[in-house]
Amino acid sequence: MAICTSISTLQQTLSQKRASGAQIGFVPTMGALHDGHGSLVTQALAQNDCVVVSIFVNPTQFNNAQDLEKYPRPFEQDVAFLNAIDPEIVIFAPEAADLYGGAVQAKSYRFGAIESAMEGKHRPGHFDGVGTVLNLLFRAVTPTRAYFGEKDFQQLQIVRKLVALERLPVEIIGCPIHRAENGLAMSSRNRRLTPQQLEAAPFIFKILKKTQDEFDSKSIPALVREAEAAFAANPMLDLEYFEIAATDNLQTAYRKHPSNTYRAFVAAFAGEVRLIDNMGLN
Ligand code: PAJ
Repeated sequence: MAICTSISTLQQTLSQKRASGAQIGFVPTMGALHDGHGSLVTQALAQNDCVVVSIFVNPTQFNNAQDLEKYPRPFEQDVAFLNAIDPEIVIFAPEAADLYGGAVQAKSYRFGAIESAMEGKHRPGHFDGVGTVLNLLFRAVTPTRAYFGEKDFQQLQIVRKLVALERLPVEIIGCPIHRAENGLAMSSRNRRLTPQQLEAAPFIFKILKKTQDEFDSKSIPALVREAEAAFAANPMLDLEYFEIAATDNLQTAYRKHPSNTYRAFVAAFAGEVRLIDNMGLN
């Protein structure tokens, strides 16, 4: 299994494949890999000749120093996880100084209205950090296609905008949310949950599902009120936001327009661990 820890070794590894016209699929991650990441990798393998998975915990997208410090980094396990899927996968795990080529700093992007909603509002600077690192990763990997999960639905929209702003020649593919049997969206942060919190966390899915089931029969404000009340009554989860937004521009929706589609978005803390999830409603 090829493990490239610098841009130059990645370029060497990919140069032959590029010369023979291979299509490159790219799955950017921060490691602590789980089956959600696995589903992106499997799709990338099916659609490309060669797949690169990056493992890089990007400092510039963390607005909370403790979250960055506590982010899990089980590198050996990640390598074994990818090796079991396909030993031909190329792993790109650069050092921050090499990837950033100097100061590890975020650029300032103008992503427009989508960046100030939800995750952008609650994690200032987060999407500038995501945009900066992906721009660098895309330039290092030069993929044909890149794969992103709808688990981070707003991030997926930001990535589409980034590719337009930076004029990057890559096709962005959105992939469905991979869930545990109890509905909990898989996440690297789930590793930090206590057994009790792990048992409580599928409540997020339960409320999203209820909102989806009742979407046709109730108004948006009523659905939001009921979801907020349900979280307030749950001592294990501390709700940061519950929002229903239009799918295209991610702006908060207050009433339904028949031609629009909507999604519900949640961020909630289980202890110190921040969990996010979302679901299409119509
Ligand atoms: P990370 O949280 O490791 O996620 C990497 C990719 O896996 C993202 O596209 C994310 O949406 C997807 N993913 C995570 N959990 C998923 C699930 N349960 N189902 C489907 N897809 C899932 O997102 C990041 O890293 C970073 O912000 C990154 C894009 C790598 C930039 O640093």
